Amino acid sequence: MTTILLAMLAASAVQAGLVPRSNKCSGGFTRVSAQTWLDNANPGWNLGNTLDAIPTEGSWNNPPVVVNTFSQIQSAGFKGMRLPITWIDHFASGSPSWTVNATWLQRVSDVVDESISRGFHTILNVHHDATDWADVTAAGANYTAIEDRFYALWFQIATNLACKSSLLAFEPLNEPPATTQAHYDEINKLNTIFVKAINDAGGFNPNRVVTLVGPSEDGSLTSQFFKRPTNITNPWAIQYHYYSPYDFIFGAWGKTIWGSDADKQALEANIAEVRGNFTDVPLVIGEWSAAGTYTETSARWKYSDFLMKTAAKYNTATYWWDNGATDFDRGSGKFRDPVVKDIIVQAAQGKTNSLADSTEDESGLTQVSSAYLYHTAGKAPTPPTDLTASYLLNGNTITSVRSPSGQTLSKGPDYTVTGGNVTFKAPLISKYITPHTPFGQVANFTILFSHGATLQTTLVKLGQSKLATNTSIATASTATTDLRIPVTYATIPKVAAVQAKLADGTCLFDTWTVYLPAIQQCRSTYGNQWDYDGASVTISAAAVQAVVAAGQTTTFVVEFYPRMPGNSATFVMTLG
Ligand SMILES: *[C@@H]1O[C@H](CO)[C@@H](O)[C@H](O)[C@H]1NC(C)=O
Ligand SMILES: *[C@@H]1O[C@H](CO)[C@@H](O)[C@H](O)[C@H]1NC(C)=O
Ligand SMILES: *[C@@H]1O[C@H](CO)[C@@H](O)[C@H](O)[C@H]1NC(C)=O
Ligand SMILES: *[C@@H]1O[C@H](CO)[C@@H](O)[C@H](O)[C@H]1NC(C)=O
Ligand SMILES: *[C@@H]1O[C@H](CO)[C@@H](O)[C@H](O)[C@H]1NC(C)=O
Ligand SMILES: *[C@@H]1O[C@H](CO)[C@@H](O)[C@H](O)[C@H]1NC(C)=O
Ligand SMILES: *[C@@H]1O[C@H](CO)[C@@H](O)[C@H](O)[C@H]1NC(C)=O
Repeated sequence: MTTILLAMLAASAVQAGLVPRSNKCSGGFTRVSAQTWLDNANPGWNLGNTLDAIPTEGSWNNPPVVVNTFSQIQSAGFKGMRLPITWIDHFASGSPSWTVNATWLQRVSDVVDESISRGFHTILNVHHDATDWADVTAAGANYTAIEDRFYALWFQIATNLACKSSLLAFEPLNEPPATTQAHYDEINKLNTIFVKAINDAGGFNPNRVVTLVGPSEDGSLTSQFFKRPTNITNPWAIQYHYYSPYDFIFGAWGKTIWGSDADKQALEANIAEVRGNFTDVPLVIGEWSAAGTYTETSARWKYSDFLMKTAAKYNTATYWWDNGATDFDRGSGKFRDPVVKDIIVQAAQGKTNSLADSTEDESGLTQVSSAYLYHTAGKAPTPPTDLTASYLLNGNTITSVRSPSGQTLSKGPDYTVTGGNVTFKAPLISKYITPHTPFGQVANFTILFSHGATLQTTLVKLGQSKLATNTSIATASTATTDLRIPVTYATIPKVAAVQAKLADGTCLFDTWTVYLPAIQQCRSTYGNQWDYDGASVTISAAAVQAVVAAGQTTTFVVEFYPRMPGNSATFVMTLG
């Protein structure tokens, strides 16, 4: 069945004029095992929302990639580079040849050269096509048509890149949607068609590393439904993606706390499950991320450290997802959270990181985090007091503490150390916080340890954050646009959670959240239901529609960091 299908595909490729342009490569190619390849790729980074943007590179939040970005990511300590590429809008002709635009193929080839010339273990894929023409779950999907186009596309990609070095690997299709056995079977078939296409394209491709995929590149679905391709001769690995737990990673239901034993056990069980099913297959997590936009800082550090350590324990390489808006700021060439970058790189080198302590128990109404030092300023000027940050040393010692300008502070007068606690003395704090200091982030201190990542704690002058308005009237006509409310942050410029409760005391969304710990009850979801930036909080049109549909006055409580009773602002929506 498969043999006949592949023979037919090869015939149709020739009919369609897909003749390899460069199946003879000059120079040598060192075949490496997929395991060796992945061992040298960790830690990897994703050039997200760039060549995968629709319709083309530059269409989303990132301008076209520049050479500097590769140099900066290399200097930062990353060894792997995943290049997600969307092909949807780059076909120059339709069926049956599906010719890919030559200008685009050249651009892709040039970007690959920038990546591999810096030694990056580079994974190139077919990305958002998975939810477009290659979507096997779409109503009326014609599998024959998908297979023909998929073969034609991969044949051309592999022909174009046939002579690239062994630093280039291929991934057939990003997160292909699948929910039924028929879909799972088709994803397995697409892996086989991909392998056939790149081998037919010749050049160095028959020896190139490939990272095959299961349904949705979900670890559990892959464990259950991935089928090993028969007769594969390329060195191969399995790639899957990891964004779990959903609530913490995506800012849902007030889950800003992470790090309990249960949280860790759940993460480890997921990674162990995939390894347990593929004991003899090299594995790579091609995407994972606890993004700064949606996660609390200490919790993100703990999560990132634990994910890296656990992946290493189960011999799984990692590529950190970065959409350009969350982590590496390509404009300034700096990581928005340099600490999490350091944690990832150090963990990949097998170093033990110390971490900032923070609340791990969700039963209370507060969340403390040693990523911050909060000086609580009341109405009357409040003189600074000593402020303490606590660290989970993990066997390391604290070697020094540095001022915002990078000077080594003096142990004794400036700070004291007791176990994992660093107490910043009032006279030091007074240098940064005066009655005239504006509310918000004031200064960053740096804490250095005997091993592992360098941490940072941000001094914040904490006051009452305020919304510019506190009421609105919801009607069927206002429910069509997002409601943007200007905000004055008197803390870090970030919203932690938004609680939405109806007049009768039930939740506007997800009524079942009343069974969660109190700090999560009736909290809605970042992105879908609320959003924020440095100047405003947005209640989405969908949330306004929900209020209209519920037919009740709804109270939104916007919670700021640190999460504690009172550090919030209330907004009431009535019906028009
Ligand atoms: C290929 O892409 C380039 C750049 O977007 C465009 O100018 C050109 O018209 C395209 N060629 C074809 C044949 O579609
Ligand atoms: C499915 O696609 C194939 C290949 O393009 C085509 O020959 C066939 O007619 C299509 N089937 C349907 C039902 O459209
Ligand atoms: C795999 O290879 C064997 C031996 O060459 C051959 O008999 C078999 O048909 C091949 N299977 C497929 C699915 O190509
Ligand atoms: C393999 O995956 C299945 C399905 O997800 C899971 O139930 C099982 O525990 C896994 N096996 C091992 C050995 O981890
Ligand atoms: C460290 O600080 C925490 C919280 O401020 C406190 O509970 C703990 O007792 C301190 N530990 C030491 C060793 O001083
Ligand atoms: C502290 O460092 C963070 C990056 O971790 C940065 O975003 C912030 O602007 C810095 N704050 C100050 C006051 O320098
Ligand atoms: C809204 O603002 C008004 C005027 O500042 C104030 O009196 C009222 O208590 C506020 N309501 C809420 C729900 O915060």
